Amino acid sequence: MSDITVVGGGIIGLSIAWRLVARGADVTVLDGGDEGAWHVAAGMLAPGGESEHEDPALIRLLDRSADLWPAFAEELGVDVGYDKTGTLSLALTADDLAGRARLWTRQQLPLLRPSELRSLEPALSVRVRAGVLASRERQVDPRRVVNALRERLSDRIVPKRIESLSDVDARVVVVAAGCGTAALTGLPVRPVKGQVLRLRGEPGLLRHVLDAAVDGNEVYIVPRADGEVVVGATQEERTDRLVTAGGVHDLLRAALEIVPGLAEFELTETTVGHRPGTPDNAPMLGRLDDRVVVAAGHFRNGILLAPVTADLIAGVVLDGQDVADFSPRRF
Ligand code: GLY
Repeated sequence: MSDITVVGGGIIGLSIAWRLVARGADVTVLDGGDEGAWHVAAGMLAPGGESEHEDPALIRLLDRSADLWPAFAEELGVDVGYDKTGTLSLALTADDLAGRARLWTRQQLPLLRPSELRSLEPALSVRVRAGVLASRERQVDPRRVVNALRERLSDRIVPKRIESLSDVDARVVVVAAGCGTAALTGLPVRPVKGQVLRLRGEPGLLRHVLDAAVDGNEVYIVPRADGEVVVGATQEERTDRLVTAGGVHDLLRAALEIVPGLAEFELTETTVGHRPGTPDNAPMLGRLDDRVVVAAGHFRNGILLAPVTADLIAGVVLDGQDVADFSPRRF
C-alpha cells in the first residue's frame, strides 16, 4: 500500500503525482489506460481567450497557472513545445467582428488592421477583417508534456482500471480521472465532446496560434515547430466517439477560410476527446471527505490548469489546505 494513490494517468493526475513526489510523498498513480482529453488537446495556454465567463476567481486561477507554466515546462527538463509567440485572435466577417469586440475590449488589446495582421502572419487570407495580438498567450504540446511526466514517474505508474474507490488501498486517494470522476465519486462531471484534426506540412507556414470567428463558427489553428498544425474543435454535449463528416467539414472549412495555404497540408489525424465539464464549468479541487481528494472538471482548460492544480492539491494533501472557491463540496 502506498500512502497516496492518484487515480488517473492524464496530465492532471501525473502533474499532481509529480508535485507530491517532489515534496517527498509516497505516491502511486493508477492509469486506467484511456487516452484522456490531453491526447486530443491542442495545448493553448490562453487564460484570456478561453474564459467566456467572467468569474473572477476562475480568471485568477487561470492567470496564476499561466504564470507557473514557464517554470513547470523548464523543470520537466525536455522540450515540451512551450512557445511564446502569442495568439492572433481574428474575425472574418463584420458579424464575427461584432461578436469578438466585447472580449477584445475586456482584454484591452488594440485592434489590428488586415495589413498589420498579414505582416505578422503572411499566410492569412485577405478576407480576414480584423484581429488582435494576444501576446501573453502561449502554447505547449500536451503529448510531449505527458510523455515527459510518464518518464519521470515511470516507477510510480501502475496500469490498472478501477470501478470503485473501495478497490484502492491507500491512506489518501486523489481522484483525477477526468470524465471518469463522475462514476467514481458521484460528482457531476459531464463529457463535452470535441473533434480535433491534425494536419502536417512544411514547417513555417504559420508562427502564431490563430483563434478565429468564421461566419459564426469558432476555430483554432495551432502550429508546431515541426510542421504539425492542430485544428479544433467542435463543442458538443455528446458522449459518443464518432468523428463526423459535419464536424470535420466545419473545422476544415473554417481553417481554410483563415489560412488558404493549409489546403496543401496532409490530414494526418482525426480525433475525438471529451472535456470534463461541471455545472459551473469551473474545476473541482479539494477534499471530498477524510480520505478522498478530487482534482477534476477542468473543462476547456486542463492543460493550462495543470501546474496550479498540482501545487494546490499538494497543499491540500500534505499541508491540510483548502481551495475555497473550487471545493467539490459546492455541488
Ligand atoms: N481549450 C480548447 C478546447 O477545449 O477545445
